[in-house]
Amino acid sequence: MSSGVTGGSSKGWSDRFEKKLHPIIEKFNASIFFDVQLIHEDIDGSIAHVHMLRDSQIISQQEAHQIEVGLEKIRNESLEGTFNPILADEDIHFAIERRLIALLGPLGKKLHTGRSRNDQVGTDLRLWLRRRIDEIDIKMYNLQQILLVKAESNLYTLMPGYTHLQRAQPISLAHHLLAYVEMIQRDRDRIKDVRKRVNICPLGAAALAGTAIPINRKQTALELGFESIYSNSLDAVSDRDFAVEFSAASSLIMVHLSRLSEEIILWASEEFSFIRLTDSCSTGSSLMPQKKNPDVPELIRGKCGRVFGNLQGLLTMVKGLPLAYNKDFQEDKESIFDTVRTVQDCLEAMTILLEEGLEFSLSRLNEAVESDFSNATDVADYLVQKGVPFRDAYQIVGQVVTNCIKDDLLLKDLSLEQWKKFNPLIEKDLLDHLTPYEVVASRTSEGGTAFIRVRDQLSQWNTRLRSN
Ligand code: ARG
Repeated sequence: MSSGVTGGSSKGWSDRFEKKLHPIIEKFNASIFFDVQLIHEDIDGSIAHVHMLRDSQIISQQEAHQIEVGLEKIRNESLEGTFNPILADEDIHFAIERRLIALLGPLGKKLHTGRSRNDQVGTDLRLWLRRRIDEIDIKMYNLQQILLVKAESNLYTLMPGYTHLQRAQPISLAHHLLAYVEMIQRDRDRIKDVRKRVNICPLGAAALAGTAIPINRKQTALELGFESIYSNSLDAVSDRDFAVEFSAASSLIMVHLSRLSEEIILWASEEFSFIRLTDSCSTGSSLMPQKKNPDVPELIRGKCGRVFGNLQGLLTMVKGLPLAYNKDFQEDKESIFDTVRTVQDCLEAMTILLEEGLEFSLSRLNEAVESDFSNATDVADYLVQKGVPFRDAYQIVGQVVTNCIKDDLLLKDLSLEQWKKFNPLIEKDLLDHLTPYEVVASRTSEGGTAFIRVRDQLSQWNTRLRSN
């Protein structure tokens, strides 16, 4: 048995049953192996519940105080490693209740007044996820920061920009890195939006229909920092949209990390050689002594599978369920825990990789932008400015490129006389336009790669990230 859960007998619901659960079924049914992770949230939720029971005069001041002390004692036991749930506890909710009763005697039995495990587990999971979302947001922010730092120091570093993974037009490396800052910002906005729907309190919906006990749902919600309460008790205990949405938002985070990973893997290859991997984030081969492998981005790319799979699993788990609570919901936890851990680990690993795991090879990047036809569009644009219709200009440059390839030349190698043979409107000033620096500098349209535009973007991101 894993997670330090041991055998033993006690059942929160056992009185109605005459025979014991089959041991294999008992294990099959239990969630204690993994929902023990919710211990702090379960205790937080219970303490808020106890305060509310006290303020609504359902239990006395004295009782509430003793229960709260008992719950805090259980929290400490868990921190010290002496809280020992048993298999028969079934889940974290029963495990805590059993321990409370062991500590307080019959008083411990008052804790569950006016609530059910159905609203309780929903509350715990939302509290847990809300905390994790805030941590994920900080990790995304850290990643944006390091991308921005790298971008700031590479405004004038040029690299080939690609479409179809074919060299297209030169760009500023800062511009490329800022594209990821944008993507991560969308991820941050998305997860903040998900957080709004995580932050609704189901507590007090009880099993499904509410309770006849005069509870005060708003009080518990407020104490636990929820924005609002569910208006419909059936919806409250059977809504897992927030988990699905969180997994979808996480999947997109992984997509973005994976695209960046893929670029890093390509760039680190001998064929590209745009970056060198440092020793702190790469590993060697057991057989080939010359190798340095990009394991970190490969793992990030590979871990997308489990996060997408978790999303699919949740959607499938929810889709056929009648209202209200169904035990199927127990399957949500491992999926969410795994997604959270994976996304957090990948964000951290990517941040470290960018911080210290790779170095851009400036000479190689420079060589790359100097030795291709990625300035061909600029010749066409030049002709357009001289009054040639774009489609004609496009044809002319196509012929120039074909000829150059035949003669093993680049555009910059052609003399003015050679240019004039293709079109007499071409003057000496064209040659200045064709350097990669000029080509990049000329793309001044909004959002373009021109240095003045990218510098502007850098300063806007600087201000923006400083304020959040
Ligand atoms: N372990 C259960 C879960 O994760 C807690 C709720 C159980 N409720 C019930 N009616 N059996 O969903």
